[in-house]
Amino acid sequence: MRFLLVYFSPTGNTRKISNHLIDIIKARGYEVDIFNLSDCIEIIDKKEIIFKKLVAEYMEYDLAFFAFPIYNLQIPNLMRDYLKKLSINCKNASFISTYGKVAKGYGIDQAAYILSKKSIIPISSLAIPMEHSYLKEKDVNQINSLDLKERQAKIEEEIRDFFEETLERLKNNGKLQK
Ligand SMILES: Cc1cc2nc3c(=O)[nH]c(=O)nc-3n(C[C@H](O)[C@H](O)[C@H](O)COP(=O)(O)O)c2cc1C
Repeated sequence: MRFLLVYFSPTGNTRKISNHLIDIIKARGYEVDIFNLSDCIEIIDKKEIIFKKLVAEYMEYDLAFFAFPIYNLQIPNLMRDYLKKLSINCKNASFISTYGKVAKGYGIDQAAYILSKKSIIPISSLAIPMEHSYLKEKDVNQINSLDLKERQAKIEEEIRDFFEETLERLKNNGKLQK
C-alpha cells in the first residue's frame, strides 16, 4: 500500500504526530510520500501565497492523510487553500488535527467537506490535544494530569490504534468489522 501524508505545523506539534504516523506506516512495510506544506509555498511580495508544489498527480495513493493544527476552531487558511487546489489520484482521506486544549472546533469537518467535493471519501479522523502554541498551560483547562512521558506513550498508542482502525476501514469500504 502507498500513502500520502501532507502536514502543516508552524510550531511543531503536528509534525511530532506526523512523524509517529510515518514511523508506524514504515514499520508495517508500507510506502509513504511526505509533504510539509511550509516547504510547498512561495510568498510573493510578502502577501500573496502560491503553491509551488502540490502532489504528483500521476501517483496513485491508497489513502491520503492530512494533518494540521486548529486555528480559531477552524482549518488553517493555508491547508484549506491547498486542499481546494489539490488534484489527487486517491479515493480515501483521513485527517489528524492537533489543538491547544481549548476547543477542537470543526477544522476536520471543513477538510472533509472540501475533499468530498472532489469525490474523496473521508474514512477516519483523530483530534489530539497538545500544548497550545501561545496560551500557557495554566491559562487553559488541564485535560489530563499525566506526566510528559506517560502522555507521549499514550499519544503514540493512540496513533497506532488510529492507523490500524484506518487500515481496517480502508479494507472494508470505510467500515469497521467490529
Ligand atoms: C492562531 C492560532 C489559533 C489557535 N486556535 C485554537 C483553537 O481554536 N482551539 C485550540 O484548542 N487551540 C488553538 N490553537 C492552538 C493550536 O491549535 C495547537 O497548539 C496546535 O497543536 C499547534 O500545532 P503546531 O505546533 O503543529 O503548529 C491556536 C493556535 C494559533 C497559533
